[in-house]
Amino acid sequence: MTPAAAPDQPEQSRDGSGSVPRHVAIIMDGNGRWAKQRGLPRVAGHKAGAEAVRRTMQAAVDHGVEVLTLYAFSSENWRRSSEEIADLTGLMRFYLERELATLQKENVRLKLIGDCSAFGPDLARQLGKALERTAGNQRLTLVVALNYGSRAEIAAAARRVAHKVAAGELDPHTVDEHNLECELQTHGLPELDLLIRTSGEVRLSNFLLWQAAYAELVFSDVLWPDFGERAFADALEQFAGRQRRFGGR
Ligand code: IPE
Ligand code: IPE
Ligand code: MG
Repeated sequence: MTPAAAPDQPEQSRDGSGSVPRHVAIIMDGNGRWAKQRGLPRVAGHKAGAEAVRRTMQAAVDHGVEVLTLYAFSSENWRRSSEEIADLTGLMRFYLERELATLQKENVRLKLIGDCSAFGPDLARQLGKALERTAGNQRLTLVVALNYGSRAEIAAAARRVAHKVAAGELDPHTVDEHNLECELQTHGLPELDLLIRTSGEVRLSNFLLWQAAYAELVFSDVLWPDFGERAFADALEQFAGRQRRFGGR
């Protein structure tokens, strides 16, 4: 068997130290439990979670992270009640409207992965506007995963590769990791360095399965609505203390 191509070595981050991750992803979990602990409806947890997004985005900007990818709604979250889904859709609309100016002020570019059309035309239109308005921003790329599932993303990439083969654009014998990676929705972003999950759950729940191949994983007991600057800095500190080997010695 031929050896796998060595993954690209991570480049140094903006502060030159190499210890700040360029690309951080977060599975924002624990909104429901946060609300339950307080005797509040789940929607109150999602509202508090939206405030945590705000704080975390600011922390990412302050630390010089280049890309922050947030898991906001999985393709499996449709299993929730229609009431909770409607609440989440309403909150996304409200916060997007409110925070578009913040994205502009902080020079943040919005990018989406997943399929946001499933949330209805109003949110899709609003997201389209935000994408357009922030397209030129350069300080941080905020990638929001909406109705996202990693297996579906990989299957769609394989489908596109198959079409290229069928069209004679690609030789099937030469199809490799690079061809597939080029068709992922994250193509063009720096390699994922750090993946954080809150709420004490230790699983990936169909998030960035391909991209996390050599990411450092940090699992935090903090419930997402309590996440902010301190918890983010703590995760970055853990990352800085890790020795990444990428299969080398
Ligand atoms: C994460 O919090 C938000 C979404 C998945 C949309 P949860 O709603 O999953 O909170 P828990 O896991 O029930 O506490
Ligand atoms: C993962 O959290 C999805 C998001 C955070 C958007 P879930 O709460 O849906 O994951 P499971 O069901 O506990 O695996
Ligand atoms: Mg959950």
